[in-house]
Amino acid sequence: MNDFLNLCRDAVGAAHVLTAEADVAPYLTDWRRRFTGKALAVVKPASPEEVAAIVRLCSQFRVPIVPQGGNTGMVLGSVPDASGTSIVLSLTRLNRIRGIDTVNNTMTVEAGCVLETIQNAAADAGRLFPLSLAAEGSCTIGGNLSTNAGGVAVLRYGNTRELCLGLEVVTPQGDIWSGLKGLRKDNTGYDLRDLFIGAEGTLGVITAAVLKLFPQPKAKLTALAALETPDDALRLLSIAQARCGATLTAFELMSEICLHLVTKHFPQIRLPFAQHYPQYVLLELSDSESEEHATAMLEGLIEEALEQGCIVDAVVASSIAQSNALWNLREHISMAQAAEGKNIKHDISVPISRIGEFIRITDVALQDAFPGCRMVTFGHLGDGNLHYNVSPPENGSDEEFIRHQEAINRVVHDSVDRFGGSISAEHGLGALKRDEVRRYKSETEMALMWTLKQAIDPLGIMNPGKVI
Ligand code: FAD
Ligand code: MLT
Ligand code: ZN
Repeated sequence: MNDFLNLCRDAVGAAHVLTAEADVAPYLTDWRRRFTGKALAVVKPASPEEVAAIVRLCSQFRVPIVPQGGNTGMVLGSVPDASGTSIVLSLTRLNRIRGIDTVNNTMTVEAGCVLETIQNAAADAGRLFPLSLAAEGSCTIGGNLSTNAGGVAVLRYGNTRELCLGLEVVTPQGDIWSGLKGLRKDNTGYDLRDLFIGAEGTLGVITAAVLKLFPQPKAKLTALAALETPDDALRLLSIAQARCGATLTAFELMSEICLHLVTKHFPQIRLPFAQHYPQYVLLELSDSESEEHATAMLEGLIEEALEQGCIVDAVVASSIAQSNALWNLREHISMAQAAEGKNIKHDISVPISRIGEFIRITDVALQDAFPGCRMVTFGHLGDGNLHYNVSPPENGSDEEFIRHQEAINRVVHDSVDRFGGSISAEHGLGALKRDEVRRYKSETEMALMWTLKQAIDPLGIMNPGKVI
């Protein structure tokens, strides 16, 4: 393997082939610190050509490749297994913004660009790149595309897939496919772009993308509504969609325990109500007309919701600082749950109309099987996507509880399947759910996925053990 590593050093420079334990450590453990893998090396190319050279070497020496962006993934897709036979290919040095076209409303960026950098570059050009998630300060657009990330603006703008017009990809053979035309219409054969989006690094390495840009909204208004039940939240969603249409850009459900954990572990963050309620919805309007128009729309919505009895209280942010404070409540839930201790996460989706029933029935099933377990349920209600997380009983033992992970997954995933849902709404499968998904996908689906994998990556060097 020394020949292989020396040839990698020739290709990208010795300084960008990391092998020392301290140097590689940050790349080997997943964000939730559940698993640490081993790698031959971490290799950090600076251009698509260098990526192609490394992939050709890996193909020649049969060295598996784990592409990595910001390593914020939730399903162990971006970390190597324990064999120590693969390399981590970090795309973070491919971080140039290659161009912005405000007439075509597109932006061409390299895969290692951090999402927040892209959002800011779009804003500087007077446009909006709407993908937004709590990890935006460290996740990369290559990882967002590779996981087809969702986030809090899917309701209005769609998943990452819908925000991409073209890709540049290094294939498992080390060829560079440049599909960066940035056309909104191009019906010339199979949609290769959509094959690589959501493939989690198992079909090739994304090195650049053409992203869609949108007009900046004239006004953004954020409100936090207090409610009794998830079904009331669904009623509020219907009223909001009827009154606000496409102006409704975010609709996040949070149960009381979520915000209790946030204010417990982050005491500087406060609940803007004098009392606690069972459920909350954080909603956001992005208006293309004016602040006055947005305010009138939001006031009308709240008034009707109070009359209909689906909300019991509401606060409207009257400044950017207040809007950020409300979003802070939402975006600290994951960190607060981690601070509370180990927990079993589920990133599920069911038909929106059935979410209330799903929560009621599955909560009961879990309490029957694991009395006292705490449901930390929140998420992108407008997309039918819940983070249906289970924490140990208050003062219970984390270690003891985590031993039930498989049994708890089974209760939740079988319930999701009965509701016609998905066991991975936005985080992907990675290594974590690769085996679990076979329980719910048909043989035809699995056979088609295998056919694609074997046709595109016959040597199986692209992120083996992930997805399929
Ligand atoms: P990584 O974690 O580095 O990699 C993710 C996957 O993509 C891996 O399989 C990896 O092999 C592959 N990959 C990475 N770069 C490339 C590339 N250039 N070419 C090919 N394959 C590649 N996700 C959501 O969808 N919605 C959310 O709301 C959300 N909120 C989050 C909040 C927090 C606090 C955290 C920590 C994570 C959250 N995530 C969310 C999960 C995570 O941020 C996303 O999955 C994100 O898209 C991962 O980007 P990344 O650059 O960190 O990718
Ligand atoms: C989010 O929406 O905050 C994440 O997808 C959930 C998570 O981090 O578990
Ligand atoms: Zn999410």
